Amino acid sequence: MNEILRFLQQRNSSPKLHAPAPSSAAMAEIFRTALRAPDHAWMRPWRFLTIEGERRQAFGELLESALLLRTPDADEAACTKARNAPLRAPLLVVVIASISPHPKVPAQEQRFSAACAAHAILLAVEASGFAAIWRTGAPAFDRHVMDGLGLAENEEVIAFLYIGSRLGPAKSIPQLDTTDYVTAW
Ligand SMILES: Cc1cc2nc3c(=O)[nH]c(=O)nc-3n(C[C@H](O)[C@H](O)[C@H](O)COP(=O)(O)O)c2cc1C
Repeated sequence: MNEILRFLQQRNSSPKLHAPAPSSAAMAEIFRTALRAPDHAWMRPWRFLTIEGERRQAFGELLESALLLRTPDADEAACTKARNAPLRAPLLVVVIASISPHPKVPAQEQRFSAACAAHAILLAVEASGFAAIWRTGAPAFDRHVMDGLGLAENEEVIAFLYIGSRLGPAKSIPQLDTTDYVTAW
């Protein structure tokens, strides 16, 4: 099998990530890959925020305040978990869908396009020798978080990509049988 196919078939998320993250130059190449996501009508319905260094603490405080608005009686353990969540990787990329009205491209397709960009980032991160995981959870759909990140009314969080270096061995990949998922019509 050729190397590219082997690589694509072995992409593997990593929940545990440590420093270093890809350099700014490496991230620029990674974002160039994202910009090749399929995109109906060339709408470019995406943008990306990076959060690194001390900004992760600020983001953690935003996640905690959002948690307390959603769940005013959240206990200290839940608050600490929310506050520390962004510290699980040295670099976070927020993939945002910027949705505009279009006569032929419904909002759903613009979200799909941004999700393809997120997947492209995962692949490009791994191709660059690093690792990542796509996370969402309640904060991705929380208006307080969106406002804190500066999202406009027509924007949505598609992914929080946690990016860094893989900590420990990669998890084993389940061997799935394509015939369980593919049929001829
Ligand atoms: C839209 C989306 C949201 C996700 N949100 C989370 C999440 O919040 N937390 C989490 O642990 N995994 C989340 N995942 C799953 C992981 O990114 C990952 O796919 C999963 O751990 C399986 O690992 P694999 O990608 O190596 O197969 C999400 C995946 C997608 C596509």
